[in-house]
Amino acid sequence: MKQRKITNILVTGGAGFIGSAFIRYLLQKTTFTGTCVNLDLLTYAGNLQNLREIEGNPQYVFAHGDIRNQALVEHLCQEHAIDTIIHFAAESHVDRSILGPQAFIETNILGTFHLLEVVRKLPHIHFHHVSTDEVYGCLGDAGFFTEETPYQPNSPYSASKASSDLLVRSYGKTYQLSTCTSNCSNNYGPYHFPEKLIPLMILNVFQEKPLPVYGEGKNVRDWLYVEDHAAALYRLLEEGRRGETYNIGGEEEWRNIDLVHLIISTIAEIQGKDENRLKELITYVKDRPGHDFRYAIDCSKIKNELGWSPSRSFKERMRETVIWYMQNEEWTNNILNGSYRDWVAENYHAR
Ligand SMILES: NC(=O)c1ccc[n+]([C@@H]2O[C@H](COP(=O)([O-])OP(=O)(O)OC[C@H]3O[C@@H](n4cnc5c(N)ncnc54)[C@H](O)[C@@H]3O)[C@@H](O)[C@H]2O)c1
Repeated sequence: MKQRKITNILVTGGAGFIGSAFIRYLLQKTTFTGTCVNLDLLTYAGNLQNLREIEGNPQYVFAHGDIRNQALVEHLCQEHAIDTIIHFAAESHVDRSILGPQAFIETNILGTFHLLEVVRKLPHIHFHHVSTDEVYGCLGDAGFFTEETPYQPNSPYSASKASSDLLVRSYGKTYQLSTCTSNCSNNYGPYHFPEKLIPLMILNVFQEKPLPVYGEGKNVRDWLYVEDHAAALYRLLEEGRRGETYNIGGEEEWRNIDLVHLIISTIAEIQGKDENRLKELITYVKDRPGHDFRYAIDCSKIKNELGWSPSRSFKERMRETVIWYMQNEEWTNNILNGSYRDWVAENYHAR
């Protein structure tokens, strides 16, 4: 397959969970030699400590600002001779979208629109849009989402991502821009913000706090290790076909309750604790409104076209993730006590 050369790249939302994993991967594990500009507004979900490993790397530039600021994005693209944009910046938490949808419309839909407008002015730029499998809606016990599955989003979050996917598609077709979209299943791994299911459960088990599980815990999700997602995205930047969409998944379907049991047994084994006693912490709570029953991804397209596949099993990666949280208590504490926001308070100059 023809390789696209990435000279200099603009990453949006690179201080978040997946964007920071992508930047670490790009600068530590690939042959990329250009400049990587990270444009991030540092909302509650953005944390520069996620990038402490690449601090001082001469290839890395941080820009504190908003993807909706077209003039800023255009300026950064010109200043750093950007030829590739990878777009992660978003509001990403479903529960927050139910409580307050507006930010999701403004960032996920309008933000993507503003970036596309810049690419319309600078059409040599290749634009990769990072999206979710949640746009496809909900599956029953059988079947998989393919790239042809119709969009049926069920939450304000997934509706806003679906809208942004369609905008990207339309700009590619109408203005003949070089675009590509990927729809990925749930990610997990290091630096995952503690409000999300896996880190929340890990941290609560450490502290022997209640483990809140929605409904009866029977909802099924497919899980992918975040660095495997980063590797898939890098392959897509180089080799993904223009105008196409690609599903990315871990081929690891887990019911939420089984996932919680796995986290408990992993921690019990590592810390020598009593598994049955930890299981008593599980507390069933009222289900999330519109809670999709099952997501499962058919990722044969990216596997067949690019030869990408998830690197190791969920159980092995979960063990590594638990150990990472044990060894990085300070990172977690800085989030839980709010001090990770100090940099923003002291240096606020977002554009
Ligand atoms: N987390 C998952 O499991 C998952 C799965 C599939 C796809 N995705 C998609 O991947 C992308 C990244 O997800 P994540 O989990 O890393 O999200 P995240 O919430 O951890 O990070 C989002 C980042 O975007 C930044 N941001 C928000 N609004 C901004 C704005 N207006 N301008 C500039 N920066 C802004 C935040 O500061 C933060 O650093 C999202 O588009 C999400 O929809 C996530």
